[in-house]
Amino acid sequence: MHEVDLTVYPDECDPFGHLNQASFLALFERARWEVVGRGPGMNVFSRHGVWPAVRKTSIDYVASAFPGDVLRFQLVLTHRGRTSFIMRQTARRVADDALIATAEFVFVCIDREGKPVPVPEEIGRSFASDADTAVTRIAVHGVGLAVDDVGSGPPILFIHGFALDRTMWRHQVAGLAGWRRIAPDLRGAGQSDAPDLGYSMATYANDLAALLDALDIGQVVLCGLSMGGYVAFEFLRRWPERVAGLVLMDTRADADTAEGRKNRDALIAGTRERGPAAVVEALLPKLLAEDAPTRAPALVAEVRQMTERTPVAGIVGALQAMRDRPDSTALLTGVTVPALVLVGEEDRLTPPDVAREMARALPSAELEVVVGAGHVPPMEQPAVVTARLARFLEGLTVRPSDRPTV
Ligand code: MLT
Repeated sequence: MHEVDLTVYPDECDPFGHLNQASFLALFERARWEVVGRGPGMNVFSRHGVWPAVRKTSIDYVASAFPGDVLRFQLVLTHRGRTSFIMRQTARRVADDALIATAEFVFVCIDREGKPVPVPEEIGRSFASDADTAVTRIAVHGVGLAVDDVGSGPPILFIHGFALDRTMWRHQVAGLAGWRRIAPDLRGAGQSDAPDLGYSMATYANDLAALLDALDIGQVVLCGLSMGGYVAFEFLRRWPERVAGLVLMDTRADADTAEGRKNRDALIAGTRERGPAAVVEALLPKLLAEDAPTRAPALVAEVRQMTERTPVAGIVGALQAMRDRPDSTALLTGVTVPALVLVGEEDRLTPPDVAREMARALPSAELEVVVGAGHVPPMEQPAVVTARLARFLEGLTVRPSDRPTV
């Protein structure tokens, strides 16, 4: 992540004093060049005989900025292909930390004749943080997924929740020795590509099956949190023979109610209008344990940033996928593998009673209620969750082969 502070001047604003949208685009551009200047140097592209042509720009203007405001621009390289790369940028007002805008820029490197040429290695290196450079990207069904693939042993696949990304599992990915820990960003989340259309539980599950194929993995333990649980159900419905164990965290098996579907539509409209800020407002106050703002402000900030980084297309797609998901209640009784149902004691979105009901319906399930956690126990009580997972996994057998083709 790279940061640059820029001041808004009166000549960039409209007669009402709001930062003008075209001036804002110029500030995003200025912030990128500042980073280039401080890093590899402004002549980095000409040094390599390459020019980065903008192929696509999308900006969500979330709030107004005014003359004198200092905006902090953060930049992250989210994708590096052979000839193209994608940068995501956010602008926050330094005085009150308000999110003002988010943007995504797709670049194609071209030569003097306008032909696409490979992205210079130096660009990838200088824009990427340590975490970015370590990311493996795997293309499935034409969409690049960012994935952490760590360790060796029987595989466990972590599926993140809505408007979060694979980094929510970082403690478990770091801590579960003896297992191959695979944590992808679903399409439209984190550093994965975010196509404009084509989101459903089936698409997410298909992506994951193709990802496992690409990694040459047959059976896995599936571990999904909340929306990740919905994806796990869809995977289980399609490929039960690939599932060696099931971990359902802070999720539910039933479909949305009519009222729930209406709320999804309202949030879709809000997100289209105001970007990820609409989701932060609607979800963040209920996401973590009630005392999180005072006990764990850094965690609240981390979760908020995760949501703010999520592309609008990915948020809207996920909301549509959740709204239209099928009921999976009947699936529970047919699960033949061991299951762990885990829930935060203070989960206000999928409360412990929902988890108890699922555990009762599953033929062979253990239930764990995590004290001091809300809807995201892997981040709120990481050590407890990792230890509990390790205990559950101890008893499991995972077959390495028998890989069907998707
Ligand atoms: C999630 O955390 O993934 C969401 O709360 C799930 C949902 O909205 O149903």
